[in-house]
Amino acid sequence: MKLLVTGGAGFIGGNFIGYWLKHHPEDQIVCLDKLTYAGHLSTISSAFRSPAFRFVKGDIADGEGVERLFAREKFSLVVNFAAESHVDRSILDPRVFTVTNVLGAQTLMDACLKYGCRFHQVSTDEVYGDLPLARKDLSFTESSPLRPSGPYSASKAAADLLALAYFRTYGLPVTVTRSSNNYGAYQYPEKLIPLAIAKALRGQPVPVYGDGSNVRDWLFAEDHCRAIEAVLQRGKAGNVYNAGAGEEHSNLEVVRAILKELGKDEGGIVFAEDRKGHDLRYSLDCTKITGECGWRPRKGFREGLAETVRWYLENRAWWEPFVQGGTAQK
Ligand SMILES: NC(=O)c1ccc[n+]([C@@H]2O[C@H](COP(=O)([O-])OP(=O)(O)OC[C@H]3O[C@@H](n4cnc5c(N)ncnc54)[C@H](O)[C@@H]3O)[C@@H](O)[C@H]2O)c1
Repeated sequence: MKLLVTGGAGFIGGNFIGYWLKHHPEDQIVCLDKLTYAGHLSTISSAFRSPAFRFVKGDIADGEGVERLFAREKFSLVVNFAAESHVDRSILDPRVFTVTNVLGAQTLMDACLKYGCRFHQVSTDEVYGDLPLARKDLSFTESSPLRPSGPYSASKAAADLLALAYFRTYGLPVTVTRSSNNYGAYQYPEKLIPLAIAKALRGQPVPVYGDGSNVRDWLFAEDHCRAIEAVLQRGKAGNVYNAGAGEEHSNLEVVRAILKELGKDEGGIVFAEDRKGHDLRYSLDCTKITGECGWRPRKGFREGLAETVRWYLENRAWWEPFVQGGTAQK
């Protein structure tokens, strides 16, 4: 099988390419990536050693470029990771989020229709909006209403709806996964975990939004890759699958755990002005993906975080060039 993996020079897409080359050596992968500030060939340097892998620089929203690529390559499957992914950037400059995340996804789906190709959309739990901190009994199922809070999540929700509409209207075989917050190796140091690690390692203040009580569910990137694989193998076309770890922790707990892992005290934590429209809590009900696709996360948060901290300690050459000031976090 020949796969097109878009956004593969980014965090999760890069992890996915590494995972897929290892577990599906019979397949060929083409990575299409625009190499924005978040995309780096150093993330997929080991993939370049495989004869099954090729890289194409390009924009998923460029209809002519996408058309040329599809005409040449005859893909059977597209896995769409390409996106503008950072919530803070979407608040400052939303337009590119609509262009890449909505129009880009549609451009790929049009090409899939024309060339007879399956489409998988990598989406997020943020499309559901948030839950109250006090209602630990609540979580989102795939049929929960979409109530995105900001331009990033609204653009992802729009792409999900388009994908489901392409299934219903044109019969395009689509699947959608909505995962919770990811962490692991090769995450650009603007999101909470790598930012906190990088700041702490550089002896700088570690910023936390508001009072740090906002809760996210943390999924190890490789577990996310396995979730997508499970849906590609056993998921039903036209369906959405949640993928979360059931590892809910407040931002403050996460930052404290990182500092503990690094042997640093908590004096470096600074509480920054809260993000506009900051979601309180995300939580996913994953009964469907477990029941239909047999997927369960394998990595607990403590173990995954220790592994991630170790990776950033050992791979300073990868992330140090990207580090700047600021309080950005997902
Ligand atoms: N990071 C998370 O916690 C998380 C959680 C759930 C879902 N997701 C989704 O997973 C996907 C990957 O997220 P990530 O954190 O790896 O993102 P990322 O920002 O690390 O990487 C995005 C990649 O997409 C590329 N890209 C951006 N615009 C492009 C365009 N127009 N054409 C081609 N390539 C383009 C970038 O160069 C980069 O390589 C996204 O769709 C995101 O919405 C992320």
